[in-house]
Amino acid sequence: MRNRSIRLLQITDSHLYADDDGELGGVNTARSLRAVLDAAQAEHWPPRAILATGDLVQDHTRAGYERFHDALAGFGFPVHCIPGNHDDPALMRELLAMPPFTFCGVAGYGNWTIPLLNTWRENSAGGRLGADELGRLDHLLSAHSGKHALVCLHHHPMPMGSPWIDEVGLADAADFLSVIDRHDNVRAVLWGHVHQASDRERAGVRLMSTPSTSAQFEPTSLEFSYDSAGPGWRWLELHADGSIETRVGRLSDDAR
Ligand SMILES: [Fe+2]
Repeated sequence: MRNRSIRLLQITDSHLYADDDGELGGVNTARSLRAVLDAAQAEHWPPRAILATGDLVQDHTRAGYERFHDALAGFGFPVHCIPGNHDDPALMRELLAMPPFTFCGVAGYGNWTIPLLNTWRENSAGGRLGADELGRLDHLLSAHSGKHALVCLHHHPMPMGSPWIDEVGLADAADFLSVIDRHDNVRAVLWGHVHQASDRERAGVRLMSTPSTSAQFEPTSLEFSYDSAGPGWRWLELHADGSIETRVGRLSDDAR
């Protein structure tokens, strides 16, 4: 079974700038992304694809997206991108929708389907899917009912136990979860946005968040607070029987 599994790498919340010296929470985001990709390449390279789950660029610049593009375009496998609240979807459609990049839509590998959802709302730190995107998810899960599904979005559909960040989660999370509950082929939901790792289960569905490739947020903090944990990434092995093996990697102190 192992040799039929699909290996994916999730990177999220790179928060790049036009300026190579741009920082988030004291972390140089461009240097940190390069270090994360170097560390991942030293582990389980290559994945079948990368999932890039939003907040790719912090300053809404074309140069920021070109920086992201240039860091990932040469690997020779797909990079599936969705927007976060800090992103500019128009620039993403322009610069990150041609191979090897895709923008939203749906990916498929083996007997897995991967809906890539858009939760972006203008001038909002929180996210919302809305009727069209919820309908698209419902349709995709029905159309691929014979496949296992890994659903990706930027905003968290479950509380993280941190009041300030739970105020800017997914506004229509209840509607999202009711779509998930209507289908028995959803194995996992995967997100970014919260800059911290989590791994839970709800009604047989794995629910996971992943550290940022740059600065982390302190788990369960009442107010906004950076965490000293290192930049991270997540490996996923999607097995043919629907099971998932996953592991979060972190940069060591001397690689940061
Ligand atoms: Fe972020």
